[in-house]
Amino acid sequence: MDAREMKIKAAAAALEHVRDGMRLGIGTGSTAEEFVRLLAEKVSAGLRVEGVPTSERTARLCVELGVPLKSLDELPELDLTIDGADEVDGRLRLIKGGGGALLREKIVAAASQRMIVIADESKVVDTLGRFPLPVEINPFGQAATLIAIEKTASRLGLSGELKMRASGDGLFKTDGGHFIVDASFGRIPDAEALARELNSIPGVVEHGLFINLATLAIIAGPAGARVLE
Ligand code: 5RP
Repeated sequence: MDAREMKIKAAAAALEHVRDGMRLGIGTGSTAEEFVRLLAEKVSAGLRVEGVPTSERTARLCVELGVPLKSLDELPELDLTIDGADEVDGRLRLIKGGGGALLREKIVAAASQRMIVIADESKVVDTLGRFPLPVEINPFGQAATLIAIEKTASRLGLSGELKMRASGDGLFKTDGGHFIVDASFGRIPDAEALARELNSIPGVVEHGLFINLATLAIIAGPAGARVLE
């Protein structure tokens, strides 16, 4: 089974949790896009759902495939969000933001009763941190914010390269007009403490540590899909 087939398998298993009439948060990334494709087939066969997309990219795909969309302001309470992840540990803590949509993804997940993560086995880790942690920052005072992130991490015994995410010949900009710093701290033994400390830096808009948000993860591997909960 190749990587795409595993993503489709996880997405198909998640689709089984979707019921008629649900208000759905719809994630971002290649795995979430497989979910959108499968969801669109169900919608064209009569399933009624309303989706809130977590990025402009996901919104475009939903519109193209005929998945009905609403804004989060129109539907501020959601039944279920289905999204991918860059890492997931055994306690359903995640690193997200590889696709640059972490802020909207976190707002949408927090507005949902449940969040199902869809991923392949390569995303499962014992300790978060192999994947560089995306941190979304305000463009104003970015140098000062980088220094604050570095000092905060160092107080927690973490260090590593902080790299501004690039796109084309400039800096990557999120849908909200912010920058992303990818922080290669390595193993993060206390994700809760790092999450708390990053949130206290004024220039940090949000970070990619998702804690107490996922309620279930569907992990696809060569032998099939398994569930973490
Ligand atoms: C986007 C994300 C994605 O869910 C994450 O990067 C996983 O993407 P993929 O399914 O393409 O591996 O957090 O901000």
